[in-house]
Amino acid sequence: MAAAARTPRARRRTTGDGTHAGRDSTLADARAGTITRSGTRRAARSATGRAKAALVQIHHGDCLDVLPRLEPRQFHFCCIDPPFNTGSAKRSSRSGEQLGYRDSFGGLDAYIAWLRPRLLAIHRVLRDDGTVLVHCDWRASHRIRVLLDEVFGERRFLNHLVWQYGLGGSSPRMFARKHDDLLWYAKGSSWWFNAPRVPATSQRLKGQTKKATDVLEVPSINNMAKERVGWPTQKPLALLELLVGACCPPGGAVLDCFCGSGTTLVAAARLGRSAVGVDADARAVELARGRVEAVCLAD
Ligand SMILES: C[S@@+](CC[C@H](N)C(=O)[O-])C[C@H]1O[C@@H](n2cnc3c(N)ncnc32)[C@H](O)[C@@H]1O
Repeated sequence: MAAAARTPRARRRTTGDGTHAGRDSTLADARAGTITRSGTRRAARSATGRAKAALVQIHHGDCLDVLPRLEPRQFHFCCIDPPFNTGSAKRSSRSGEQLGYRDSFGGLDAYIAWLRPRLLAIHRVLRDDGTVLVHCDWRASHRIRVLLDEVFGERRFLNHLVWQYGLGGSSPRMFARKHDDLLWYAKGSSWWFNAPRVPATSQRLKGQTKKATDVLEVPSINNMAKERVGWPTQKPLALLELLVGACCPPGGAVLDCFCGSGTTLVAAARLGRSAVGVDADARAVELARGRVEAVCLAD
């Protein structure tokens, strides 16, 4: 495919079913960029005028400000990895430099109060058959689940996935914490799912694959890994590809409004989904843009 085009303003959006939203968009603020997987607008259209290529838009700003400017009911899958309320400053995994984002909210109540309006804003932009997945850990998963029950409804709970990542230390005082929690909720009574396949572990199925369960064993990114870009909380592309492939239909639309270094956006672009990313930190947006462009240029 031709080289990727990057335009200074977002020109078009693709809705979930592949049709164009049409006009120049007001959400295309001056800081937002649009990256297509194909070289020209024309190449992104099929004979019927439907979009074939994945589009990725990345916005710089607080998602609470950006989300209300997006059209409602457009995303099939929102996958977020917000700050975990660790209480510590984030440093670059490469330079050790302190990074802009605040991961301290002055307690769990304040953290939940901060997250609530952002989840409500996500609810608005999800399609009626859309789903949201919130990546969190032991610090707040119990409270975020209650919050998701409140915003999406208890009956819309789909899965509590466990991402078992392996790396890290041990503790002499308790079992070592080696997983994160991924809470998956639907907006309505139907949603899209394509069970991912993972290598089978039993002797009987040796060398074959089986449907993934709610425990996902994906190694975290080690410090020397080629995919590491320096963002301290970067998640492995393999995990995001598994999630996007399972939860967003081909050609559908993905949102990550805490996109960090852009792992979800890269996964979406590689899998032929369109994506919108938002991050409050300018350096994260720059990293994400670079990663998405590299995917587009590789085509
Ligand atoms: C845990 S990191 C996401 C890492 C990402 N999954 C990756 O693979 O690189 C959380 C991100 O949320 C961003 N953030 C914090 N508050 C935000 C807000 N109000 N709106 C948008 N982004 C925010 C931070 O700058 C940070 O990049």
